[in-house]
Amino acid sequence: MRKKELQIFVYEYDTVLELPERDQKLIFAAREASENAYAPYSKFYVGAALMLENGLIIKGNNQENADFTDGICAERVALFYANANYPNAKVEAMAVTAKNSNGLIKDPSKPCGSCRQAIVEAEARFKHPIRLILDGAKKIMVVENAESLLPFAFKPDALG
Ligand code: THU
Repeated sequence: MRKKELQIFVYEYDTVLELPERDQKLIFAAREASENAYAPYSKFYVGAALMLENGLIIKGNNQENADFTDGICAERVALFYANANYPNAKVEAMAVTAKNSNGLIKDPSKPCGSCRQAIVEAEARFKHPIRLILDGAKKIMVVENAESLLPFAFKPDALG
């Protein structure tokens, strides 16, 4: 029997202004994207913004449906749009934010399991880590890649 320890690095910032300028820009784009979220049911407005290697910023937001299970998260809207329209552009980073009726959520917004799986796929596809910048009023968290939030992920190489 072997007991192994997994380590993940999380960088925490008290305010947006402590982050490098490129990450600040991405957070502001995500906040802007959250303004256009279609979330009449949850009233939880999520925004995601991706930075592509070609410098383009792609925005997405959650899109809900009266048939609740047919909605989709902001992260996947942004990622799938980017992959559909710029299939050869590596995704460098993604900022995620959310607001509710009280404004910007306190704790940083973290991608759900399905979004983590989709982001890990993009990391595998482009052989490039995607820095995740998770925005919140109390603090901002940065992790170096999506896989650190989804250890032992199911990845393309599992298919053999
Ligand atoms: N949501 C996202 O857009 N991203 C996440 O990472 C978590 C949840 C959306 C889905 C739904 O529209 C609303 O937030 C409440 O769950």
